[in-house]
Amino acid sequence: MKDIKEIGEPVYSSGLENIYFSETKLSYIDGENGRLYYMGIPIEELANNSTFEETAYLMLYQKLPTLSELEEFTKKLKENRDIPEILLKEEELIPKNAHPMDVLRTIVSFVGMLDENAMSKKEDEIVEKSIKLTAILPTITAYFHRLRNNLEIVRPDPNLNHAGNFLYMLRGEKPSDIEIDIFDKTLILYIEHGMNASTFSAIITASTQSDIYSAIVSAIGTLKGPLHGGANEEAMKMLFEIDRNYNGDVEAYLKDKISKKERIMGFGHRVYKAYDPRARILKDLALKLADFTNNRKWVDMQIELEEKAGPILGEKKIYPNVDYYAASIYYMLGIPFDLYTSIFAIARVVGWCAHVLEYWKIGGRLLRPREKYVGELNIPYLNIEQRR
Ligand code: SDX
Repeated sequence: MKDIKEIGEPVYSSGLENIYFSETKLSYIDGENGRLYYMGIPIEELANNSTFEETAYLMLYQKLPTLSELEEFTKKLKENRDIPEILLKEEELIPKNAHPMDVLRTIVSFVGMLDENAMSKKEDEIVEKSIKLTAILPTITAYFHRLRNNLEIVRPDPNLNHAGNFLYMLRGEKPSDIEIDIFDKTLILYIEHGMNASTFSAIITASTQSDIYSAIVSAIGTLKGPLHGGANEEAMKMLFEIDRNYNGDVEAYLKDKISKKERIMGFGHRVYKAYDPRARILKDLALKLADFTNNRKWVDMQIELEEKAGPILGEKKIYPNVDYYAASIYYMLGIPFDLYTSIFAIARVVGWCAHVLEYWKIGGRLLRPREKYVGELNIPYLNIEQRR
């Protein structure tokens, strides 16, 4: 592939669609065929056989761990789960109506201020910071949720895995094995996805040689948007809107949205022009959880919406994406809507850190694209009395 620099003439691509700017081994998205690989391993293999901890290790060390490596990594995550009292005090000052993504953005920024070695670019130190961030994002989120509801905070339980501990700290009761297993798989599916907007945001920040905390704060702010990570929260709100304002009439809702050229949340993707393989796995998990919780209402509505939207959106190669069925899974787990994107961040912080690490390792260049100038030139400067 020729580097554009050799070609000379800048390339214009709206939204940077289909533009490569670097190389990676972390993941490969086959958009045409709806396939996804983490370090070359098909996502289905990892979702069926791995755990969040093992997949996080795969991303940060670019290899699957041996048993002792996994035990050491898991131990480090558990040791780093709780946050220093100063951060808890900081969370107590945050307005209770703050969006949980703003809480993550704020507290991660504070974590960076507490790290005197924040600017380090040493690989082993960046990995340690990545492990710390991976360990504390669930705690920051769960503590805020308890504080905003005037509930006692629930300290981490070292006997629970990453997925189970988050549900425990959030809900204040031990989750069932099936809930832990399903939630763990959603975290595996959210961990990494190439150069999506929030990862790109992290890399832009990292490319200036800023610190990893600033890179993660950039990514959190970017993920929050409803066109990106915010879509899972919007997708659940959409189901409630169908239920409450359309009396469950999916067809009427769809007709309305399409006629107003509005987007169906949880559908469509910049890269997948086939069914998002993560959505396929999440659909099965949603059905399994619906049977376990004896509540098929929401997933049945989603399946009907997918079937009815198929002929219309399928023509434009628009299919359910990762956020669609994640929404009903989180609802059935009793997680409030406004925490769904925080959960996305809890998983994706691994992918963000892994890409920053890789970009620094390969000596990634400063990212500085251009805009095509469409204004006039050599316009005379008018004194204020001459202006109209
Ligand atoms: C994630 O990049 C990643 O990998 C992201 C992610 C990850 O893991 O990091 O996969 C996670 O962000 C998934 C996407 C979550 N977002 C949503 O579900 C929001 C709804 N989806 C869209 O807004 C949209 O599909 C995007 C933003 C995801 C992608 O949009 P593009 O590639 O910019 O395409 P576009 O906006 O130019 O749309 C092209 C056409 C338009 O119609 P026309 O004007 O050509 O007639 O497709 C239509 C759009 O209106 N379209 C939709 C639609 N998405 C696109 N129409 C209805 N419903 C939708 N969801």
